[in-house]
Amino acid sequence: MRVWSIANQKGGVGKTTTTVSVGGLLAEQGYKVLLIDLDPHGSLTSYFRYDLDNLTKSSYNLFLMTGELDPNEVRSLVHDTSVDNLKLIPATTALATIERQLHGQEGLGLKVSRGLAQLWDDYDFALIDTPPVLGILMINALAACEQLLVPVQTEHLAIKGLERMLRTIAMVNRSRKSELPYTIIPTMYDRRTQASVSSLRAMRNNFSDHIWPSMVPVDTRFRDASKAGLPASKYDPEGRGVHAYAALLKLLVAEQEQKECEKALE
Ligand SMILES: Nc1ncnc2c1ncn2[C@@H]1O[C@H](COP(=O)(O)OP(=O)(O)OP(=O)(O)O)[C@@H](O)[C@H]1O
Ligand SMILES: [Mg+2]
Repeated sequence: MRVWSIANQKGGVGKTTTTVSVGGLLAEQGYKVLLIDLDPHGSLTSYFRYDLDNLTKSSYNLFLMTGELDPNEVRSLVHDTSVDNLKLIPATTALATIERQLHGQEGLGLKVSRGLAQLWDDYDFALIDTPPVLGILMINALAACEQLLVPVQTEHLAIKGLERMLRTIAMVNRSRKSELPYTIIPTMYDRRTQASVSSLRAMRNNFSDHIWPSMVPVDTRFRDASKAGLPASKYDPEGRGVHAYAALLKLLVAEQEQKECEKALE
């Protein structure tokens, strides 16, 4: 299984949209994909029509599990979505209480890693959607993944948010064996607005090593797809937003395969 997290401390930048779009495309390509919602607001969970106030099995349960984990207990958290091959561990609002409830518990930052280890052979990919705040939920996502996607809206305030996120990555790297690779994904790009054009230029100048050279354009079809409860690639396969995510995915998969090749040769 390959684990990718999608995170940015800034809200409304396209994290959940990226999670669903990339997950939907991977599932269509025949990969077995697990989405994990770690956001107490549960946009990803609501996307697939689950009511986060009425779920008894969710990512919250991962945090309550202690000792030796039972793979079947972890499997019982997995829900279906509208798409074959695309499964979901949903969120509940109770996730918001974890920080307070479990404060100081040993291994709290590794709960998601440990849960996913039980499902290692069940899926090809796990994609973790996170809340826009630095806390134990985001720390779990960053500790569990081997690749981080950082969607950044192409507007002026975005760069400040991105700088905060980069500081978080640097902090997490201090406790990881190897540096966490990350890819900045410019989103909601509107070439007709000066703010989009100039902020994309600034991002490319300032973060050239980690930025995906293309961008996701503004595309109202994402909102329509979300209303329909379908990944954008199912809703509008030829949409320009879908094409952008498909190009991103192609690059990420190629990069990952190359890394795996290099590792095998070491
Ligand atoms: N490329 C895009 N073009 C147009 N609208 C978009 C695009 N990407 C996302 N959106 C819309 O913008 C809104 C915010 O997107 P999304 O929920 O993915 O952001 P988020 O980062 O997950 O937000 P939060 O921090 O609240 O979890 C949604 O209504 C979504 O449909
Ligand atoms: Mg979200």
